Order: sequence, then C-alpha cells, then structure tokens
Amino acid sequence: MNNNMILVLDFGGQYCHLISRRVRDAGVYSEIRPFDVSIQEVKHLDVKGIILSGGPGSVYEEDAPRIEKSLLGFCKEREIPVLGLCYGHQLIAQLEGGTVAANPVKEYGKTTLEVVKQDGIFNGLAEKETVWMSHGDQVTHLPDGFEVLARTATCPIAAYRSTDGLLHGLQFHPEVNHTPKGKMILSNFVFSICNCEKNWSIADWTREAIARIKDDVGKRHVLLGLSGGVDSTVVSVLMQRAIGEQLHCVFVDNGVMRKDEGRDVEDYFRNTLNYQEFYRVDAEDEFLTKLAGIRDPEEKRKIIGHTFIEVFERKAGELASNFGKLEFLAQGTIYPDRVETAATSKSAAKIKSHHNLTLPEDMELKVIEPLKDLYKDEVRQVGKELGIPEEIINRHPFPGPGLAVRCVGEVKKEYLDILREADAILIEEIRHAGLYNDLWQAFAVFLPSRTVGVMGDFRTYEYICAIRVVESRDAMTANFAKLPWDLLETISTRIINEVSGINRVVYDISNKPPSTIEFE
Ligand code: XMP
Repeated sequence: MNNNMILVLDFGGQYCHLISRRVRDAGVYSEIRPFDVSIQEVKHLDVKGIILSGGPGSVYEEDAPRIEKSLLGFCKEREIPVLGLCYGHQLIAQLEGGTVAANPVKEYGKTTLEVVKQDGIFNGLAEKETVWMSHGDQVTHLPDGFEVLARTATCPIAAYRSTDGLLHGLQFHPEVNHTPKGKMILSNFVFSICNCEKNWSIADWTREAIARIKDDVGKRHVLLGLSGGVDSTVVSVLMQRAIGEQLHCVFVDNGVMRKDEGRDVEDYFRNTLNYQEFYRVDAEDEFLTKLAGIRDPEEKRKIIGHTFIEVFERKAGELASNFGKLEFLAQGTIYPDRVETAATSKSAAKIKSHHNLTLPEDMELKVIEPLKDLYKDEVRQVGKELGIPEEIINRHPFPGPGLAVRCVGEVKKEYLDILREADAILIEEIRHAGLYNDLWQAFAVFLPSRTVGVMGDFRTYEYICAIRVVESRDAMTANFAKLPWDLLETISTRIINEVSGINRVVYDISNKPPSTIEFE
C-alpha cells in the first residue's frame, strides 16, 4: 500500500482514466474506485486526496450517482482535500448546500476561462486560459463559505473552493490535452493542496510488486497463461523473480496466433530465457471446433476465454501429480482491458469483453493479475526495469482472442491461413519502412466478403483484406496512421500478388472513438 496516493472516484466519465494517468505522470500514485467506495476502504487506502470524476448523470436526478453520504464530512475531519471535476464539481456544490441546474446554453469544446484567483490550485495561470468544457448542467449558487475562482462567458461559477481550502471544483476538464495548463492545475492540487510527495516510480512499483507476489503466493504454485506478448512476458519475469520454480508457464497454441508465432514464443522462453517450466499445449482443433459457425464477436470472445481456462485447468491437473495442487492462475490483464470490459466502473458501458476477464464463474484457480492497474506504457517501463529486451517490450499489443477477432464473423482455418500471410507481409513492410516502433499497432483483418477483380486476363472473385494501422499512447484513444501512399501501395500490391484468396486491400481510416482498434 502507498500512503501517498490520490484516489479517483469514477462517475462514468469518459476521461476518468486520464485523471489517474496524469497524477501518476506527475510522480504520485493514484488508483480509481467506483463512486460509492466505502469510507472503510478510503481509510484503508490511506489517501492524501480525492478527485471526483466527470460523468453523464445530472446531480438533481433522483437516481444520480453519489458518494457515500458522510464521505465529505470524513474528509473534512481528516483534512483530506477533495477536487470535483465537471459532474464531481456539481456534486460537491450540491452536497454542501449549493444549487445545480441545466443551463440553456451548453458548453462543449475549447472555452476561454477567466481566472479570478491566480493562487492555490490556479497558481501559475494567466488571467485568461483555454480550457476544455463538456457540460449541460452547471453550479448556479455556491454553498455558504465558498468562493468563485474562475468563470467563462456562460458559466459564472467555473471553479470554486471552500474557505478552509479543502474542497475544490472545476467545471472544465484539466485531465485532457485540450486544456493546455491542465497538468499544472492537477500538480497544484496534488502537491500544494494535498501535500503529496513525488515518489511514484516504476522502479518502486516493480520492487513492491515482486514483494507482494511473494507474500500472496507463499509456498504455493502458480500457472501462468503466457502468450508471448508484452504483458504476459512481463508478468512471467516478475513472477520468476518472486517465486522462481513455483511458476509454471503455459503457452496455448490456439490456432488463432500469427504466422510462426508458436515457434517463436517457444524458442524465446525455452532458449533465450531458459524457462524450465514452460509448456506448449497444442489446442488448435479444440478452439477451432468450438468457434465453428459462431459469428457474434462477444460470443467468440466468451468461447475463447472459457476454452483457455479449460486448457489451463487441465494442465494444472496434470502438473498437480508432480507439484501438488496449483492454486493460482496468473494473467497479463492491464488497466485498459478492465476499463473496456467495464470492470472498474459501475456507470461505464461495456465496450467489449477482453478475454482475460471472460472467466467462467465456477473456475477453481484463483486469479492473480499483477499488472491490472497499469497502462501499456507503464508495463513497458516495468519490462525495461526487469531487463527484458527492447524487441520484446516494443512488440505491438495482440489481443487475447488473437486472429479470431480479426477474422470478421465466422472463424475458419482457411480464412486464418489467408490472414496470417497478409499480416506477415504487412508487418514486414512496416518494419522495412522503419515505422514499427512509432506505431501502436499494425495488423491485417480478414473480411469475408468477395469482390470482383482482374488478374492477367482473368476475372477473380476473392476476399477483402483490411489494413489497420494506428497511433496511440494507451489504447483508450487512437488515430489511424497517415502512412505514405507509396508504402500503402507496396503493401497492397504484395498482399494481392502473394496471398492467394485476396484480390482487394482496403485501408481503415477510422479513429477511436468512435471506432475501436480491433474490428470485433
Ligand atoms: P479496442 O479494440 O478495444 O482495443 O480498441 C484496445 C486495445 O486492446 C487490445 N485488445 C485486447 N487485449 N485481450 C487483450 O489482452 C483482449 O481481449 C483484447 N481485445 C482488444 C487491442 O489489440 C488494442 O491494443
């Protein structure tokens, strides 16, 4: 536990995860909890400050999400500062006796903020600053003893604080890049108002994670589902350091891996990392048989998640004769996986079930997820800290359900074989152009629609390959990469000429949101 932490309470706002990111980037540990976290848990976490996120609700609605009734009283008593952002700003004002109402003029986008008090949370700001607004409701009357810190043309109470300096509210979003001084404002809150120390570092986290795993596991044995990707590789090295031979790594060749992936993963773990307890399980038929005829993306994800667990449990049973009962299943789940599966929030929507979280209810193994609170770039920093080579750390993310979610609709071996060839060509060309490390992901997608083409003097009627290449920092948002036309042409020409079954290549030009990175 870190007694220098900022707790973020999640009211379902789309920027919630960014708040804790920004706080961690400033060097202070931060975690997110649902909005109705108990006072007991807040006490246990020993927080230095609390930030209430934005959210889609309206505080005056009967079923509006609210913090536990006496949380503000508890914070005042313990002198724990609280900052409300957008919905959080309105909620604090309302709970303290102010009023909130819908404004006829909604404010969305960049707005000029007139800073009335350039001290405290606004220390270092100019009289006029650009901020990002996104609200329909606003605070219309402040509670007694509160003062206005800033306003905009249509929002007279755009920021406030209580006279004891413990409660603050900002109608705008300091956590997004569109608020240029946002980082400074959050740093003022964290350091000057909450008196946090700058002491969150990946090196500390790594040391603490190893110690925690040792404590949690004791003398028991753990099975790790290893895919060879960044996350599970980092988990494997962390666990190796913590529990050594009590770790048993299982790589499941599920038939939806990329070209030569099984061979490469086995080689790396057996020969480079020298893992003695590495098992490769060939389960291609089992997975493909269960997926046959299934088109729905969530159904496909569920089948894959459950089949993985069946294979792991079978393997754990086999290993039990040598090592006794294996009690834990370790996984490389990271924070964004949980956000999109809506596992962190009571008010956020489920986008897709990330496979690590699609677990059967009656599972016997207990799950350990050491990276569950980290973002991908933080996981990569942990990897570096552990001495994992750059070429592994910088591998593009690959989803647990593998090519099954890149083969739109029904998954068939014939389609997967086509996809593997196209994907290998794409990656080869991206590497050749020296772009691999600058991109978040680059992959091919199989579209099971046939279109007409002409090759030589003949008509063709074959499938479509989509190319998806995106830039991103943490997968929560992403932009399609503006690749040079020449490169796109080379990729398309090579795929059509070299991959039998494809006669058309299309480039995906959608950003996330509103699209997602994977097609399913
Ligand atoms: P989406 O498609 O949700 O993807 O924009 C965001 C990031 O997550 C990866 N992804 C997954 N990773 N298990 C994983 O470990 C999954 O089930 C899964 N689904 C998507 C995706 O590749 C992208 O980097």
